[in-house]
Amino acid sequence: VVDIGKLYGQAGLFTYDPGFTSTAACESKITYVDGEAGHLLYRGYPVEDLVARGDFLETCYLLLYGELPTVKQKHDFDDKVTRHTMVHEQMVRFYQGFRRDSHPMAVMVGSVGAMSAFYHDSTDIADPHQRMLACIRMIAKMPTIAAMAHKYTTGQPFVYPKNDLSYAGNFLRMCFSVPFEEYKVNEVLARAMDRIFILHADNEQGASTSTVRLAGSSGANPFACIAAGVACLWGPAHGGANEAALKMLTAIGTPERIPEFIARAKNPDDPFRLLGFGHRVYKSYDPRAALMRDICREVLAETGGDPLFDVALELERAAMTDQYFVEKKLFPNLDFYSGLTLRAMGFPPAMFTAVFSLARTAGWIAQWMEMIADPSQKIGRPRQLYTGATRREYVPVGRRG
Ligand code: ACO
Repeated sequence: VVDIGKLYGQAGLFTYDPGFTSTAACESKITYVDGEAGHLLYRGYPVEDLVARGDFLETCYLLLYGELPTVKQKHDFDDKVTRHTMVHEQMVRFYQGFRRDSHPMAVMVGSVGAMSAFYHDSTDIADPHQRMLACIRMIAKMPTIAAMAHKYTTGQPFVYPKNDLSYAGNFLRMCFSVPFEEYKVNEVLARAMDRIFILHADNEQGASTSTVRLAGSSGANPFACIAAGVACLWGPAHGGANEAALKMLTAIGTPERIPEFIARAKNPDDPFRLLGFGHRVYKSYDPRAALMRDICREVLAETGGDPLFDVALELERAAMTDQYFVEKKLFPNLDFYSGLTLRAMGFPPAMFTAVFSLARTAGWIAQWMEMIADPSQKIGRPRQLYTGATRREYVPVGRRG
């Protein structure tokens, strides 16, 4: 707690909490994380149950409305989402303005932000109908936008949505079907994709979700807020860790080299960290990492295996029995096995965080809706602890020597 009176002659106290390690910025009824026990609940439902028995669109409904849908509600919601999967044809031309070798996340930040230009009939946040339309549009169009980013940056023609497919099946087809070749959705991979989306759907106030809320607190439109979330997610300490973790596993290459990398991660003079390890809130095994490891195993059984999976398993085992990691409570997080899984499904590493952003849109949009509906909501405006110069006399440039 800082006494700002002492600093600036103003009355009052504020807390100084870099990284918000112990400051709640909002109330929320959406997602509960028990980091000590390693539990993640969406609206009270364990993520394990949703992954085993639910599907992603049902999870989106749950996050948005607070309850699991009835049969009719589910049918209507799926139908609404399906009818909004196309993006405006002008957006195709918008994509063509990006450099052909752009990172897909750069394309995602730009194209999600641009949605407020293409869909301005759902940007009036005072209108509940427009707010819900924006949510449906985001959930429906994110797979199309992410698949277009993939196709564009790999130089292939865009594939339009096929609405008789499942949400995940349609996404895989838009990413991987190529002209003049029959594409049949692999149901094992589509189910894996759907479960991966559920695992990534929300995780309470992660950096990107807090960014969405902060942007939204100014009254910015939902597309602009989600674009801010996508930008934040890109960083290697957040969603970008899946790409970085796979690069690390590739650099390790064989189990024999694991001790060398563990030693580097423990060395205080080396900035290297084990990517896909550690979490601000999970101080025991991240439940999503265990589920992702199972999905990874199933996907690799379908696609022919990957020697790096054995490296990952061995790295996990070695870290979990190392005093440094045990004492600091550093466990694998969601990103540790997701890169391996997504690569096995055919995604290039640059697409991993784009897939994450597609799925996390469900949580972002639900959190944004909750915030807008909260009458106690104020513009987010953190304080700072000023440590710069005290008042100084201006010296004209000619007299500065
Ligand atoms: N490897 C080695 N040491 C680590 C690691 C790691 N992956 N993570 C944390 N530590 C150490 C730190 O050096 C620090 O040690 P110290 O107390 O001696 O200074 C201690 O553990 C605490 O780490 P902090 O950085 O203070 O923890 P914080 O909560 O701020 O960071 C974070 C959490 C960013 C996730 C961190 O663990 C990290 O950088 N991990 C690697 C990147 C990663 O996997 N990110 C994905 C996050 S999950 C997600 O976005 C889905």
